[in-house]
Amino acid sequence: MKDLHCNLAGLELSNPIMTASGTFGYGLEYAPYGELRKLGGLVVKGLSLEPRSGNPGPRIVETPCGLLNAIGLQNIGASSFVQDKLPGLPWKETPIIANLYAQSRDEFAELGAYLAQFEEIAGLEVNVSCPNVAKGGTAFGQDPGQAAAVCRAVKDVSGAKPVMVKLTPNVTDIRAMAVAVQDAGADVISLINTLSGMAVDISTRRPKLANIHGGLSGPAIKPVALHQVYQVCQEVSIPVIGLGGISSARDILEFILVGAQAVQIGSANFLRPDMSFRLVDELQTLTEELEISSWDEWRGSLKVE
Ligand SMILES: Cc1cc2nc3c(=O)[nH]c(=O)nc-3n(C[C@H](O)[C@H](O)[C@H](O)COP(=O)(O)O)c2cc1C
Repeated sequence: MKDLHCNLAGLELSNPIMTASGTFGYGLEYAPYGELRKLGGLVVKGLSLEPRSGNPGPRIVETPCGLLNAIGLQNIGASSFVQDKLPGLPWKETPIIANLYAQSRDEFAELGAYLAQFEEIAGLEVNVSCPNVAKGGTAFGQDPGQAAAVCRAVKDVSGAKPVMVKLTPNVTDIRAMAVAVQDAGADVISLINTLSGMAVDISTRRPKLANIHGGLSGPAIKPVALHQVYQVCQEVSIPVIGLGGISSARDILEFILVGAQAVQIGSANFLRPDMSFRLVDELQTLTEELEISSWDEWRGSLKVE
């Protein structure tokens, strides 16, 4: 395909490749490794109203075909991002998506209202994997009612900007979560966030992460991600962004084949900082090799009978 362009809830993406929150800094850190404007979309590190220093270390552990992290949503805070980072990003060419982290519905609404004012920010991605402090710490994204309430609160303040809800895979029925946020007005669903996990050291008898548990990402989680993306695409009519373990153009085509509109590249950016940029070229070549004529022809065309 000469033209990899795709539309995502009104956003024009030059190609379906976006970066995943927390794996691409605020974007500028990766500018030495490629042209940021080459990316279909750029999702920045989760932002909160106030800066956060995150969890104590160790907070990253390698695991077979993946990694566990317990960063604890360290970030510089929404206003520092807007002042110091946003002006340097190529927002006219590449949609910049702010990823939102908060601990209550009202805080999500305040953060969404603040970020939605800036023309440089094209859309809001709501991370519902975080604990709802008022409800004893269960993640918003583990309860359809709470996920819907957060989605509605952000949607009410986002104006014309698309609201993307990023689902956690740590649930019994991902379809129920997807339907709940679609009904609450979500414009896009992205999934999956990390899978809960832990690693221990038998020589010290200690957990390898200071936080004890963390989130698993990387190629190890790709089959889980693909299955959940497939299930959600069968269930909802809004566009879905697929992510989880993507590290090749073939992986990208798999997610689009099961119905995803776009994809995000996460931990693979740690393996090679030029990964997301290279995948744009590799996707171009592979679609030509496979003679895929358009995304409409390929998307969701998985044969199951
Ligand atoms: C170090 C690290 C930090 C992350 N931080 C965030 C974050 O701030 N907000 C968010 O929604 N997801 C965050 N994620 C989850 C990723 O965006 C992505 O959903 C997950 O890693 C699965 O994709 P992957 O297997 O391609 O990495 C983080 C992941 C990692 C590895």
